[in-house]
Amino acid sequence: DWKMRDVLDEEIEVIKKTVGPDDHVICALSGGVDSTVAATLVHRAIGDRLHCVFVDNGLLRYKERERVMATFESDLHLPVTCVDAADRFLSKLKGVKDPECKRKIIGKEFISIFDDFAQELEHKLGRRPEYLVQGTLYPDVIESCPPPGSGRTHSHTIKSHHNVGGLPKDMRLKLIEPLKLLFKDEVRKLGGILDVPEAFLKRHPFPGPGLAVRVLGDVTEGNALEVLRQVDEIFIQSIKDAGLYDSIWQAFAVFLPVQTVGVQGDQRTHSHVVALRAVTSEDGMTADWFYFDHKFLDNVVRKICNSVRGVNRVCLDITSKPPATVEWE
Ligand code: XMP
Repeated sequence: DWKMRDVLDEEIEVIKKTVGPDDHVICALSGGVDSTVAATLVHRAIGDRLHCVFVDNGLLRYKERERVMATFESDLHLPVTCVDAADRFLSKLKGVKDPECKRKIIGKEFISIFDDFAQELEHKLGRRPEYLVQGTLYPDVIESCPPPGSGRTHSHTIKSHHNVGGLPKDMRLKLIEPLKLLFKDEVRKLGGILDVPEAFLKRHPFPGPGLAVRVLGDVTEGNALEVLRQVDEIFIQSIKDAGLYDSIWQAFAVFLPVQTVGVQGDQRTHSHVVALRAVTSEDGMTADWFYFDHKFLDNVVRKICNSVRGVNRVCLDITSKPPATVEWE
């Protein structure tokens, strides 16, 4: 794609010009397409003066940390430090139910971890990193800070996407946002040119606050996160097995903080309900629910109820965006 090749060359030039020859840059990798492509691009421009950090916030999906670290290290040769911060995040989230509060707490904790990382680097390098790379896309910019004339203002912000606008004003790091004018499909093309593995580029988007916005209410209650990971993995694996993964923008499970009565074997159960959601979309701004045939759904629901302890009912979300958002929180 010649257009994206031009974009790539231009971006690499801009980064080389912006970042001084002795400056160091840090980048938080989320495991998603955007931050991975942004980091790979910056790595092309400045090599190992880029220092990436991947934070395990305890809100990741099944085996996610192992899976993404393997891609960063073996396929992309990115310099990445993995920080295990699950306890830090989960202890701050304990008892918090309000969706916006959860998002704000998570955003703040990420910033504080990046600060620690920058300080450690400063000790190691003898100078402080100057820049922070973010994989912000064009739709993130419009949803968080609508441009003038769009009819939306800050007070109408729908959700605080922690990767935009949530950075502290006194932050000393300057931002590099090489994808800020691109849409998702363009980022995927750019990633292809940068040799990011195809399977990785096709991964569905995953929100910064992770499973915290998919466990409704208090994420630390009981074994909600563990149950959700198992259900989500079964759902996604079934979608892949059916050859449907690439036709879907995003698919995931949601853990509902309610229990219903069921019967398993000869036993009455009082267990949790999960919801399944799959949508098609161009850019995440609007979305339609994805149609699964009955046989597929029947198989998935049986598999979930038979193999995940603590779940006795599964619902399917068939709401488009609008009026719903993609995520439940
Ligand atoms: P919503 O739920 O707002 O989601 O309809 C639209 C798209 O954005 C993703 N999303 C996020 N991505 N940080 C992110 O990086 C966030 O805080 C966040 N919240 C939602 C969501 O998964 C969907 O693809």
